Amino acid sequence: MTTFSYASEPAEKIRAGVLVLPVFEGPVPGPGVKEVGLETAFRDAKLSGKKKETLLVVRRDGDRFAAGAVLLVGMGPRDDVTPNGLRRALGKIAPSIARFGSVATTLPQAVPARALPAAAQAAVEGLVLGAYRFDRYKTSNGNGKPLVRVTVIGSARADARAAREAIRRGQVVAEAVCWARDLVNTPAGDLPPAQIAREAQKMARQVGLRCKVWGKPELERGAFGGILGVGVGSVNPPRLIELWYRGAGTATPIALTGKGISFDSGGLSIKDGKGMETMKCDMGGAASILATMRAIALLKPKINVIAAIPSSENMPSGSATKPGDVLRHRGGKTSEVLNTDAEGRLVLADALAYLAEKKPKAIIDTATLTGACMIALGDQITGAMGNDDALIRDVVAAGEAVGETMWQLPLFDDYRRLIDSNVADVKNIGDRYGGAITAAWFLAEFVGDTPWVHLDIAGPAFSEKKGDLAPKGATGVPVRTLVRYLLDQAS
Ligand code: BES
Ligand code: MN
Ligand code: ZN
Repeated sequence: MTTFSYASEPAEKIRAGVLVLPVFEGPVPGPGVKEVGLETAFRDAKLSGKKKETLLVVRRDGDRFAAGAVLLVGMGPRDDVTPNGLRRALGKIAPSIARFGSVATTLPQAVPARALPAAAQAAVEGLVLGAYRFDRYKTSNGNGKPLVRVTVIGSARADARAAREAIRRGQVVAEAVCWARDLVNTPAGDLPPAQIAREAQKMARQVGLRCKVWGKPELERGAFGGILGVGVGSVNPPRLIELWYRGAGTATPIALTGKGISFDSGGLSIKDGKGMETMKCDMGGAASILATMRAIALLKPKINVIAAIPSSENMPSGSATKPGDVLRHRGGKTSEVLNTDAEGRLVLADALAYLAEKKPKAIIDTATLTGACMIALGDQITGAMGNDDALIRDVVAAGEAVGETMWQLPLFDDYRRLIDSNVADVKNIGDRYGGAITAAWFLAEFVGDTPWVHLDIAGPAFSEKKGDLAPKGATGVPVRTLVRYLLDQAS
């Protein structure tokens, strides 16, 4: 467990394993550099202050600072420093400084004073997310030392209370993101739907959320034909996880759902070996909603939130759903399953119909839904689609604010007919082209006139390469966006 604190003492007095200080293009030494007596070293090392540049100075006798070492980090032009840039800069150095145990930094002082809270939150997130590792399955975890303590150093003039609250927000959000990553990185063999539901129940108990888990008999009684139909080929039965957060009495809730396919083999429309290598990530949407609910329960905004998360395992077998089968979803609409690998929309349809029954203010769903969205936007950008432009705009803006990039794709009217079915209300695949949009059209069928936005995270949920804020594997996208959006709704 990492502890987090705020300090407004001069940087040179701070005791920490490593003290991280900014330097700017110019070159200009940032807050704390003169005070620790490294101005000359800074000049002699001929630093440029450009991004990616670092200089580590280990304390020797006679040095003017209390920390074990000082790391100077290039931040680019001072006027261009933003909380998002700060998060990434700290994320990038976090893996290499975690070994110092405790980290203190003046980096948040690089932004204008009124932005200090936002910068402090981003700094905490950057350090925690950047230092994240998933080594539970490694019998020797090398030189992996966890971060023990993080201290944000503000100027004496800054609002200490606002900074402390922001640090707490950063901690809650970052720990929620790491938990989502753990769930996604855990092998599918160890995390079938029933186990995801148990993790949800445990979390709900810990943070004080109401939680109800629907098992197979309850799903049958409730006519959740999509969740059941996708799961029927697996020995691991499906679940629906319902969570309630109440922070605003009887106010109309905001509804959330996420795709929770514990493993996507494709079913009888089976994927090839390469295609299913990473398909433990297909519950990334579910994990991000669970983590969002956890963060909201801890941050206690004055809103109400309901989540209904469908979880099935998509497997081929003698009992599996076959191409051509028709499923009857919650609420009665039917779908023709022409490709069992387009399973995410089938489980989400039930959850969306169920949530729409509650007449929420808005529904947000997130899903590793289509390879087509990755083709369109690459592996770092989330596709946003829906039936309400104002809602889409607000969610995309929340993503922008926290550095999770999203881009709206059109729910183009003419493409709706691509999912017309000969035998049922809709079919579960469209044409070869525009796959992210036809998938969204399928989902749209089940939300009625509730304002709704769909976030296709097939690209950003799971990364094949190391990023600034995460090692290879699960990223926890879009937890930061969702928490930000929900907190914005309370203010
Ligand atoms: N889970 C996949 C989408 C996916 C692919 C997520 C790669 C992350 C990385 C989804 O269930 C799927 O298989 N979609 C198909 C739909 C097609 C059959 C219409 C796809 O995108 O190929
Ligand atoms: Mn699939
Ligand atoms: Zn899938």
